[in-house]
Amino acid sequence: MDSFLQKYGPAALITGASSGIGKSFADLLAGRGFDLLLVARREERLQAVRSDLQSRFGVQVHILVQDLTEPGAAGRIYDFAAENNLQIGLLINNAGYGSYGEFDRLNLDSELKMIDLACRAMAELAHRFIPDMKRRGRGGVIFLSSVVSRIATPYMANYSAGKAYEFALANALHGELKPYGIDVLALLPGTTDTEFFDIAQMKRNASFLKRTPRQAAQTALRAIGKRSYVIDGVVYKLFIFIARLIPTRLMIRLAGFVLRPGGNEEL
Ligand SMILES: NC(=O)c1ccc[n+]([C@@H]2O[C@H](COP(=O)([O-])OP(=O)(O)OC[C@H]3O[C@@H](n4cnc5c(N)ncnc54)[C@H](OP(=O)(O)O)[C@@H]3O)[C@@H](O)[C@H]2O)c1
Repeated sequence: MDSFLQKYGPAALITGASSGIGKSFADLLAGRGFDLLLVARREERLQAVRSDLQSRFGVQVHILVQDLTEPGAAGRIYDFAAENNLQIGLLINNAGYGSYGEFDRLNLDSELKMIDLACRAMAELAHRFIPDMKRRGRGGVIFLSSVVSRIATPYMANYSAGKAYEFALANALHGELKPYGIDVLALLPGTTDTEFFDIAQMKRNASFLKRTPRQAAQTALRAIGKRSYVIDGVVYKLFIFIARLIPTRLMIRLAGFVLRPGGNEEL
């Protein structure tokens, strides 16, 4: 058996697996023999992912339609996994969405749900699944953070604050859980070509900056167990390295200029 499957198997739970990076994680893990529990709101999309993966890889794929911003969502997912005898060795906290614009003009309900998804749901899922991993003495948790967690991003204030929470949570848990044989990783993608930009009503970056969802997922699966966080793509690694050398005050002004709505947000 693949040593990766031995360490993190037999089953993986992926939130937000109906599209984008989550769907790519599902594809890559099914290819390595993982059984899967896939969670998202769009049932038809999940069904299509399930039949595709089952026919190509012959693994067990369970789907659960669940809005993760609803109270009790994490508990229902945990119970579903238990009822179906799924031993979750790898939790991929991936579901998320963004928004763009002046903070006080964005829809408050949607912004508060974003916090529920980026902070509350991710923390609760980790809190529920980690004790079983501790008992087994092995496992992994991946948090989908972002490069925006490392720099100030005016006009994406709430979104980047949520990603900073995930970054901090992942790094701290990495330290806490290492002695139990559990690996925790924050994945920090830059612009990745998914539906994210349509939902956030943002323009995509120039194409040379764009990464594919598969590349982002591969980066995380290669890095888990080796470090506490990983930035996807050399260009973004370099970008964050340089950005962190620039004084914060100047960086905020530069980012505010580039990201200003109606300004140059394509760059
Ligand atoms: N694309 C980028 O450039 C980029 C960069 C950095 C970080 N990220 C992060 O990567 C993660 C995945 O995003 P993506 O780029 O792959 O975008 P995406 O294609 O829009 O995928 C987002 C996934 O999250 C699910 N989701 C959203 N709200 C949900 C909710 N309330 N309950 C359950 N599932 C929900 C969506 O499924 P349903 O709509 O079916 O529920 C979908 O499967 C996010 O956390 C995002 O912040 C993306």
